[in-house]
Formats: sequence, C-alpha cells, structure tokens
Amino acid sequence: KVLVFPDAATASAATAARIVARLHDNPRAVLGLATGGTMEPVYAALRRDLAGGPVAFTAFNLDEYVGLPADHPQSYASYMRAHFYDALGVPAAQTHLPRGDAPDPQAEADRYEAAIKAAGGIDLQLLGLGANGHIGFNEPISSLGSRTRVKTLARKTVNDNARFFRPGEEVPHQAITMGIATILEAREILLLTTGKTKSRAVAQMIEGPVSAICPASALQMHPRVTVLLDTASAADLS
Ligand code: F6R
Repeated sequence: KVLVFPDAATASAATAARIVARLHDNPRAVLGLATGGTMEPVYAALRRDLAGGPVAFTAFNLDEYVGLPADHPQSYASYMRAHFYDALGVPAAQTHLPRGDAPDPQAEADRYEAAIKAAGGIDLQLLGLGANGHIGFNEPISSLGSRTRVKTLARKTVNDNARFFRPGEEVPHQAITMGIATILEAREILLLTTGKTKSRAVAQMIEGPVSAICPASALQMHPRVTVLLDTASAADLS
C-alpha cells in the first residue's frame, strides 16, 4: 500500500499513529526500529503519544556503526536514547542494537540475528530509505537473501551521514545491519520517506524491477508493507 501525504509532517504523524495503534492492540509487540533524520519527527510524536502509558514493547534496531561504542554521541544507541527511550524510561533490557564495539563484529551480527528469532521475530518493522535505495544498511547489490551481517557502506552513504559527525571526525565505513531476508521476515513493515532527494529511489523501489541494485525493491515481495510518502518524495512515481 502506498500513501502520499501533502507534507513531511503529516506523513511522519501518520507513521507514528500506526505504531501507536499497533502498540494499543499489542502492548508487548516486538518493534524493528530505524534511525536517521526522517525518523526524528516520528520519535517526537511517539514520545508525546506514549508518555505516561505502560512501556511493554521490545525493540530491535536495524543497524549500528562498527567501531562506535554505545555511549559514542553518534552511535545509533545514543540516537535511540536521545530521541525515544530516555524520555519514556524504556528499560534497557527491552531495547536492542548490535554492539558496534564488539570484538568480533560478525559473531555479534550472528548473535543479533539469533536474538531476534528468540524474541519471536519482529511484529512491526519501521524503515527509512537511503537515496541510493538502501534499507537498513543494505547498500545496492546486497544479496536479497542476506541476514544480519557486517556491511561496508557506500561512499554516498558515508557522505550523506557525515552531516551528523563533527567536522574532521571520521565517519564509520562499516555497519552491522539486519539483512534483507531478516527485514522481510517482519510480520508488517512501515516505510517512511520524505523529501525530493529520495524521489528516484522511491520510484525504483515501487515501480522498478525487484533487483539487488535497489535493495528496497525487495519489499515488493512482502505481503504487508505500507509506504508513507510526502509529495516531494513521491514526485517521480508515474
Ligand atoms: C537507519 C537506517 C537507514 C536510514 C536511511 C535514511 O537506521 O537504517 O536505512 O533509514 O539511511 O536516512 P535519513 O532518514 O537520515 O535520510
């Protein structure tokens, strides 16, 4: 299902409302969560809408930078605490991210994949979209059958993410990311994308062939995906 909203604010509010509705139906749901600029208004809405209620969900994030400890300001663990978990007092035991500073990153990826399975799998997966068509950090030409693993980031992704790091600070070149097959096992998927810079990737994801060149196109094979767009990111749809 593809939904186009007049602007980014309404698309993000609609995404948050869907998450709140699922948590209302099943407070103990297992969520798959994303980071990035697109998700900031979603977490702002969730902080507001979930405040004061029970926090019984479990969450697994899509990815984490290799080499960054959880307390590094640019780690995705820090992002999740700052944008979502701290405000609601989500117990750390209910929140999961790959450990970026694990001594053996591939063993950590395997452990993470097993932890998702042990939790019963993901009920609702939230995704953003890279301008190059990535989901999680599954960059173009990632195997559509991939599981959680270490991925080297595309130069474009490193450049896109540099805005979150201090000038001169090294931007990580590798991440541990859920694989495309891992993502496709979620029982339901919400993908939110806003802004003109994503419009070509959106068109390839929805109207292009299913291809590892655009990893997000693999979502065409999933039976329960809702794509939420603003008009700018929907501009290249035919
Ligand atoms: C982040 C993630 C990425 C982002 C994507 C879009 O956890 O998995 O796939 O969703 O890079 O990032 P923004 O929203 O910053 O444009």
